[in-house]
Amino acid sequence: MSQIFHEIEKKIINSLQKKLEQTPEQLSESTELSIDQIRRGIEWLRLKGLAQVNESSKVTISLGKNGIDAFKNGLPERKLMELIKDTPKTFDDVRTMLSGVGFNAAIANAKKNGWIKIDKTDSGTKISTKEKPVETPEEKLILFIGEGTISEKQIENKLALKFLLERPDYLIQSTQKIKIITLTEKASQIDTTLSDSGAIDVEADAALVYAARTHPLKDTIDEIREIFVKLGFSEIQGALTQSSFWNFDALFTPQDHPARELQDTFYIENVKSENHASSTQIKEVSKSHSQNWHYDWKLSESQKMVLRTHTTCATIRYLAEQKPDQARIFSLGRVFRNEKVSYKHLVEFNQIEGIVIGNNTTLRDLMGIQKEFYKQLGLTKIKFWPTFFPYTEPSLQTMVYNEKLGKWIELFGMGIFRSEVTKPLGIDKPVLAWGGGIERIAMLKYELDDVREFYNNNLNWLRSV
Ligand code: PHE
Repeated sequence: MSQIFHEIEKKIINSLQKKLEQTPEQLSESTELSIDQIRRGIEWLRLKGLAQVNESSKVTISLGKNGIDAFKNGLPERKLMELIKDTPKTFDDVRTMLSGVGFNAAIANAKKNGWIKIDKTDSGTKISTKEKPVETPEEKLILFIGEGTISEKQIENKLALKFLLERPDYLIQSTQKIKIITLTEKASQIDTTLSDSGAIDVEADAALVYAARTHPLKDTIDEIREIFVKLGFSEIQGALTQSSFWNFDALFTPQDHPARELQDTFYIENVKSENHASSTQIKEVSKSHSQNWHYDWKLSESQKMVLRTHTTCATIRYLAEQKPDQARIFSLGRVFRNEKVSYKHLVEFNQIEGIVIGNNTTLRDLMGIQKEFYKQLGLTKIKFWPTFFPYTEPSLQTMVYNEKLGKWIELFGMGIFRSEVTKPLGIDKPVLAWGGGIERIAMLKYELDDVREFYNNNLNWLRSV
């Protein structure tokens, strides 16, 4: 697995691969990074499960004020022995010569060591050497510590340590928390391929973070929805499964129309739609078909359930139920067609669809709305082309120029609902309608020439757009 590491992480890993256990301070030294950078780097590596931090405490010893004096000039008992080396001295002499400080300690320790003897004479109490004063363990310890700081563990003679600790200001004992950093097994294998330069490249690329994001197709859907809302439209919804009645018959699509054939439409097996329309609606639609298309309209054919092939079923149902005098409505959602999947066709895709109903609405208004919609999407090179739908007259097709492909792409279909559609359902105002595929628009937006890319879950592409 390849991973992207920050320069700081690389240096820490590299150093720990060479020397397995290090404190942050040691790492700072070996990597030439500041202690703050080291702390940050350790934390990143720890979160990635690449480094471990073991905390332990360490007791250290250094000399205090009296200890330093003893290191330089000897312990008071040693000073005392110097004073009486040649001739015995009285208590008073010694007290003044030792200038009082440490006098009691000097006597007590020299006695304890068996170095002196004390005799009461006529001229006062005399102190004289009893035994040659050999170097004591305490003296050895003071020399060993010297002016540095050592770990308590290094001291072998614990008794000497105990005695010195009991004497005032000889030793400073402190407890330090230390962190030992090690790499986890995973990290010891990592090849950081560190450059030889010890300098930190402040312009190096930061690790890329791919935060969660919405799918580009979802972004397009949201954008389109927002444009229609801004243009004063309200959204309606429809079910994905529909009776053939609303998907086809109500839209004046004859029962032998090729679009209704099995190779174009997904039918739901063994389900018959009941009560999807009123008896008047069924009677009037049936009449419209028989009279105008001249064939024998069958109820059973209209009861077949389908996966909706367009969103126009939602539109026509809304019109039949609400019969509004004035409205701006849109509907958006998934539709299904039994197509061979290719670079421009999917079996499931999304459509947007809208209607305007009101007084004095003309085809020109419809074209104006289309132009405005495309403009908001940044598409300005458009033209209208005559086409055919069973339910609109006249019928137009919008074409948009795709600069990248260098060709005209068919986008929305539109027209004015025929009276053969509206009259049977009791709608007597002219209805402007249009609709089309959203993936096509998204393809233009993302400059794709294969619609399947939206569903490929290609992370590289998804991250790049
Ligand atoms: N339903 C048509 C289609 O699926 C689009 C359309 C909607 C055409 C409304 C005219 C009116 O392509």
